[in-house]
Amino acid sequence: MAALHGLIRGLLNATEAHEGVTARGWVRTRREGKGFSFLELNDGSCLANLQVIVDDGAPGSEALPDFQTGASVEVTGDLVASPGKGQRWELRATRVALLGQADSEYPLQKKGHSLEFLRTIAHLRPRSNLFGAVFRVRSRLAYAVHRFFQERDFVHVHTPIITTSDCEGAGEMFRVTTLKGDIDAKPSADFFGKPAFLTVSGQLEAETFACALSRVYTFGPTFRAENSNTSRHAAEFWMIEPEMAFCDLAGDMDLAEEFIKELAVYMREQCGEELALFERFVDKEVRRRLDFVIERPFQRVPYSEAVEILRRSGRKFDYPIEPGLNLQSEHERFLTEEHFKAPTTVFNYPREIKPFYMRLNDDGRTVTAMDVLVPGIGEVIGGSQREERLDQLRENLRRQQLSEADYWWYVDLRRFGTVPHAGFGLGFERLLMFLTGVANIRDVIPFARTPGSADF
Ligand code: 4AD
Ligand code: MG
Repeated sequence: MAALHGLIRGLLNATEAHEGVTARGWVRTRREGKGFSFLELNDGSCLANLQVIVDDGAPGSEALPDFQTGASVEVTGDLVASPGKGQRWELRATRVALLGQADSEYPLQKKGHSLEFLRTIAHLRPRSNLFGAVFRVRSRLAYAVHRFFQERDFVHVHTPIITTSDCEGAGEMFRVTTLKGDIDAKPSADFFGKPAFLTVSGQLEAETFACALSRVYTFGPTFRAENSNTSRHAAEFWMIEPEMAFCDLAGDMDLAEEFIKELAVYMREQCGEELALFERFVDKEVRRRLDFVIERPFQRVPYSEAVEILRRSGRKFDYPIEPGLNLQSEHERFLTEEHFKAPTTVFNYPREIKPFYMRLNDDGRTVTAMDVLVPGIGEVIGGSQREERLDQLRENLRRQQLSEADYWWYVDLRRFGTVPHAGFGLGFERLLMFLTGVANIRDVIPFARTPGSADF
């Protein structure tokens, strides 16, 4: 008899009956029959519950009244084919034991709580079907991300979380300090000898490694003190940032598009059980949007053309469309969902609205930026080819009133063996929103940090 690992997922996937197996988990429901009780047990290893049948008088069954919803229990018995509908296997208990009680205040008694309510019990919500599914998917997709890059010879680099440089130049950084009182009075007295911040992006450090190991990627938390309380912005989110030496914008877009497609395929093929749940209870269009991204070739459109399309669309948008302004998510969604009816990559943005590190195009007005847009979300990826020419980078720094002395090491990459290089950042939560159909970023991250909220 093959050994079964103790998780319910393993038991439910058994290919034959087994005697003397043990399952542990949390009681979802208990019902009493004639001379026996039914338990539905879930341990979070899969969506399905294990049905357990406990005969009255079985060892430990005197504790059954305490097997309330939410209680943790251990059951030993025989895994047998279930005569009932709805499950292939059930566990006929020979012994049951209560591990931990849950009283009637356990908040997950009934199904159908709102997502807003479940956010207030973020410590318990992973025990619900929906959040169990979301966080299993999050874990598997993290694996798929590593697999994608490792199979392509990218080296994983752990870039720092505390930094003294503002990569995106947007000034949306959280200060890290050990000073008390007026923290700006004497910054040199601070822990690191100068003002330090939580990183908004690992890109600049990733570039140094790409200019040594050729192909690298980061996968870590990033922080932005943007005060935008939207359903797609978090103050702490996870970003995946590949960086490639000897690569231009076209190569960068190729990789980004291939990456999105592969993750969508992974979701469809490896997370089918969860996808079916999301389709049923979260967003009935989610699978259609996955297929859309998997099957349709990406459209590529320069920013200037995208703006023209939006202006000519006759559509009323909340935010203005004008050359030189950033695209808003309503514009991005129009382009991918309605105009191109395909996943879309917009490139060559005006230099005025982009950070100093992007490569200036020959027109002198645009930079080699690109954003990948998907239906339902808009931007999931932002990237660019980097400015590899020393003089031009220096000019970019000057234009953005950044001091070369602060970026001396970044500038050095252009002094010693500079190469064309490019990369991008994928917001992991934005990707998960796209793959699961979950509409609010707070519901795809275990513990959300947003303006005014950092509980748990
Ligand atoms: O477009 P962004 O700002 O690009 C960068 O940070 C570059 N340094 C990336 C690079 O080239 N290596 O951010 C990248 C992605 C966005 O496309 C979006 O998916 C996500 O990060 N993102 C956020 N996700 C959640 N909450 C926020 N506040 C986010 N800001 C950006
Ligand atoms: Mg962006």
